[in-house]
Amino acid sequence: MSGLSANLETPHCGKYEQPTGLFINNEYVKGVDGKTFEVINPSDESVICSVHEATEKDVDIAVSAARKAFEGPWRNETPENRGKLLTNLANLFEKNLDLLASVESLDNGKAVSMAKVDISMAAGCLRYYGGWADKITGKVIDTTPDTFNYIRKEPIGVCGQIIPWNFPLLMWSWKIGPAIAAGNTVVLKSAEQTPLGALVAARLAKEAGFPPGVINVISGFGKVAGAAMSSHMDIDKVAFTGSTVVGRQIMKAAAGSNLKKVTLELGGKSPNIVFEDADIDNAISWVNFGIFFNHGQCCCAGSRVYVQDSIYEKFVQRFKERAAKNVVGDPFAQDTFQGPQVSQVQFDRIMNYIQAGKDAGAKVETGGNRKGDKGYFIEPTIFSNVTEDMKIMQEEIFGPVCSISKFKSQDEVIKTANSTTYGLAAAVHTKNLNTAIEVSNALKAGTVWVNTYNTLHHQMPFGGYKESGIGRELGEAALDNYCQTKTVSIRLGDALFG
Ligand code: NAI
Ligand code: MG
Repeated sequence: MSGLSANLETPHCGKYEQPTGLFINNEYVKGVDGKTFEVINPSDESVICSVHEATEKDVDIAVSAARKAFEGPWRNETPENRGKLLTNLANLFEKNLDLLASVESLDNGKAVSMAKVDISMAAGCLRYYGGWADKITGKVIDTTPDTFNYIRKEPIGVCGQIIPWNFPLLMWSWKIGPAIAAGNTVVLKSAEQTPLGALVAARLAKEAGFPPGVINVISGFGKVAGAAMSSHMDIDKVAFTGSTVVGRQIMKAAAGSNLKKVTLELGGKSPNIVFEDADIDNAISWVNFGIFFNHGQCCCAGSRVYVQDSIYEKFVQRFKERAAKNVVGDPFAQDTFQGPQVSQVQFDRIMNYIQAGKDAGAKVETGGNRKGDKGYFIEPTIFSNVTEDMKIMQEEIFGPVCSISKFKSQDEVIKTANSTTYGLAAAVHTKNLNTAIEVSNALKAGTVWVNTYNTLHHQMPFGGYKESGIGRELGEAALDNYCQTKTVSIRLGDALFG
């Protein structure tokens, strides 16, 4: 492949021009080594197109561009203008909503109706951080009468951002929004499974008016481009979303290079707890949405369902009927809820977990098989008769698979819910206010939902306890991860010292 774009078509947006180059300095370019890789359509396993691959040398070039922009024009850009550019970008996301959603569906396999929600949330996130850009303020701190002290919030510098494939453009906006609002420049690497949306969005960043080098977007593999970013001596901060295994490698690489600041948003094994007094119809809907939304490919997926024993039998019966009704199929069909898993690798990984559950003696209440013989489709799967020590109860499956078990008391379920190494999210379903608050406070998780699930919002911080991560994304909290705090202390008067 030699060109820098491909002519593609989707059933939702029709024909469009897909950029395929690395986006550096506001231009699409080929990689130095001329390498490319294929992008696979998870719905039918066909090749969509090929994109240019970044290697270490390209990472160096992108970082130089980001450094030059950071030390040059971008550093002197007014906060007001940074906000205006982010707002322009948010508007362009909305204007191009159908295109961006179609690209996500094509590349990732998610239902186009869901992808549209992703894109409006991405636009909301960019607009939100556009609003923050001129509200990031310092402080004056009085210590002694002869000193004047102020605290300044400054950008960190060049930020390396490594995103996953489950919500490609939402993650793009979660990373770029706060980094840019705070005055940093970025080199963002998309996931190798889903590079397309990030490259279309890069064109919109240029159209929004961002100067060259401020937002650079590269496609490439974790072990090559991702590793080069985390160990780079001129990247000041790395923000990562993905597996806990890779999160650890990134921290090590940061420690072994320039001690760049690290924020990590990692895996989860989130408990979804249903008390006997819950509104059962609502609880079933949220439990279903909690695990099967985005094909179970959510870091916060409610994959461990705990139901109080008095309603357990009824709940299992109705939940499996509900799950079996989720429409699995073509992402571009109107009524599809669940599309294919993102890749052959993820498909195999999930099918292996399903097999491990069966082998360990768990009971398949519904699902448990692949769906169809082409594309990476898997039936919504519910296991019962599980024990806490089973692999399917401890490890993140990242697919449409959950386990359900019963509990007797509040104390017991809190203990069980907290018994994994993860702590990203959790939920409680109850009508009792005391139960809701007591359990929410006792759960070791960065987000707790009550009578709902997966309802993230860009105004609210998101991140993990324990091995689910370090730092927070979204909300005002995310800005802390993209600012340095500088203390300036001025001695007043002209009395001699000493
Ligand atoms: P991954 O953690 O390998 O990939 C995520 C991102 O990290 C991609 O952009 C990838 O290129 C990059 N990456 C991979 N190795 C790297 C390295 N050594 N240095 C720097 N960057 C690197 O996740 P993968 O393999 O796609 O999925 C494996 C499992 O990870 C999933 O089954 C799921 O359990 C979990 N995961 C969690 C996500 C979350 O939202 N927290 C998102 C994606 C995966
Ligand atoms: Mg990987």
